[in-house]
Amino acid sequence: MDIPRHVAIILDGNGRWAKARMMPRNYGHVKGAANVEVICRAADELGIKYLTVYLFSTENWRRNQDEVRALMNLFHSYTRTAIRQARENNMRCRVLGDPSALDATLQKNLRELVESSRDNTGLNFQLAINYGSRDEIVRAVRKVAADVGDGRISDPSQITEDMFASYLDTGDIPDPDLLIRTSGEQRLSNYLMWQLAYAELYFTQTPWPAFSKKDLELAIEAYNQRTRRFGGLKKGEEDREEH
Ligand code: IPE
Ligand code: IPE
Ligand code: MG
Repeated sequence: MDIPRHVAIILDGNGRWAKARMMPRNYGHVKGAANVEVICRAADELGIKYLTVYLFSTENWRRNQDEVRALMNLFHSYTRTAIRQARENNMRCRVLGDPSALDATLQKNLRELVESSRDNTGLNFQLAINYGSRDEIVRAVRKVAADVGDGRISDPSQITEDMFASYLDTGDIPDPDLLIRTSGEQRLSNYLMWQLAYAELYFTQTPWPAFSKKDLELAIEAYNQRTRRFGGLKKGEEDREEH
């Protein structure tokens, strides 16, 4: 089996999972956060090197205040758990997104998570929190513009795809090979739109709190059935030379 180097997940369906159990949406978020820990361990056991999960989008502020507040509280406790988990499991954590809109304590937890795990050599785990692709691209363009302004970039031809990618929040990690979205929706919802250009997309009906290691294995099996061409052709797909 070919294990994808980088798996990105849109963990969706917490609310619907809870509603189906006659429970409040926040119960789904609590179970969902606990499952992030489970799937991190599973990804590491399966030999995945990079795992990136979508925890909160730049659009999720549109939800009602109670839900946003509950999610932020959950992120506080989740980041404390993640700091411990990173230490125990040798995980290196990175944060994608704009932390400036998060409260000061959460920002501090996220900085601590990133800094305390910087030298770890196990699973690379990215938390996308207050993340949106469009926002990320605009922030990258601003950084490029600043470098043009102070002369670090002197000619437009210096701006290449690789160079621009290095300004994104994912600057030092490879693009995802496989995107998984749980709970039936088939859209990107502003997730990693630059980075997913050639990822294989996998959608499952399973809601996030119920997504297990077995489901991750099924996604990897499906990934192994795909033919990745990157715009080219695979050996044997070309017309045979006629002589
Ligand atoms: C995903 O679950 C978690 C977040 C977006 C924060 P949802 O909260 O989107 O759950 P559904 O999609 O409404 O069921
Ligand atoms: C995407 O899920 C964002 C996260 C998983 C954090 P949403 O539930 O917010 O997506 P939409 O609104 O259904 O597109
Ligand atoms: Mg949703």
